[in-house]
Amino acid sequence: MSAKKHIRAVLGFAAVGALALGLTACASGDGDDGASGDSGDSGDLISVGFVAVGPEGGWRQANEQNIKDTFTEEAGYKLSYAPAANLDQKSQIDSFTAFVDQEVDVILLSATEATGWEDSLKLAQEAEIPVVLLDRGIEPDDTSLYVTRIAPDNVEVAKEVGEWAAATFPDGGNYVVLEGPAGVGVVNERNKGFEEGLGDSPLTKVDAQTANWSTEEGKSVLETMLKANNNDIQFVFAQNDEMGLGAAQAAEEAGLTVGTDIKIATIDGTKNAIQALADGKLSYVHEYNPLFGETAVDVVKKALAGEKVDSYIIVPSQAFDSADAAKAVLADRKY
Ligand code: AHR
Repeated sequence: MSAKKHIRAVLGFAAVGALALGLTACASGDGDDGASGDSGDSGDLISVGFVAVGPEGGWRQANEQNIKDTFTEEAGYKLSYAPAANLDQKSQIDSFTAFVDQEVDVILLSATEATGWEDSLKLAQEAEIPVVLLDRGIEPDDTSLYVTRIAPDNVEVAKEVGEWAAATFPDGGNYVVLEGPAGVGVVNERNKGFEEGLGDSPLTKVDAQTANWSTEEGKSVLETMLKANNNDIQFVFAQNDEMGLGAAQAAEEAGLTVGTDIKIATIDGTKNAIQALADGKLSYVHEYNPLFGETAVDVVKKALAGEKVDSYIIVPSQAFDSADAAKAVLADRKY
């Protein structure tokens, strides 16, 4: 058992936070990978179990690297990174349980699935291990089971996409939605926000399917949709950049010009999408800012010190609605 755990047992949970903040890093080097090692025995470092999604696309890479770059041993943390095996929730639950068994000081969770987390979160609660949700929410949402969720506001981001679409197509038209994987919480939030933003727009939804966050699937799914609708689709809402970039390829191969024959809006704001917007291959990109590692560190410090934290911390994100807007930020994009 790490020194902090012993002290926690003796002095009480809240007191350990003040001591943890006084501890200084005693070793250099990155956190280790996986939940199999004994990340609980981290000496004076605050042990952090990161139940992560793993390889999924540009946004995920940027988000997880930012967490790794922030929770360093120099900053006083021993981060154990446990990515899902092929996006499989069971592998995440197994890693989560292993971190509880190792008595880590805090768990960070980016859930591959929205449902099925109650038992794991209760296990951590019984072990007095605070859990911080990164990006993805849980369903049903029970804020008593975690410290906070740190993410941009998916509903608001998607609502702004809907409002842009409604303003761009005042006389209506046919649109389709390329969704993330079924069961992922942000997909439902983005559908909800987008429809709120559309309001009473005359735009007509003619299809919606998952393309699993993937460029290849975004291309193949839109190809099928265009054939099924004789190319009579004027707008595509792609719930992430990769699917939108695939849709742009499909539109081009169908002989459609993005910007005049068809418009494509995406969410994430990765560099490839901002470049595509600058090049006229996308029409609108809403950032879903992945760089919230410093916010996560601040939350962890407060949680371990027994301080109150808001149950949802919204990460500001901006919209880009033109090639000029994209060109203005392209050189400085951090992801
Ligand atoms: O949960 C955030 C989503 O997951 C991003 O929009 C997508 O690119 C990632 O895979």
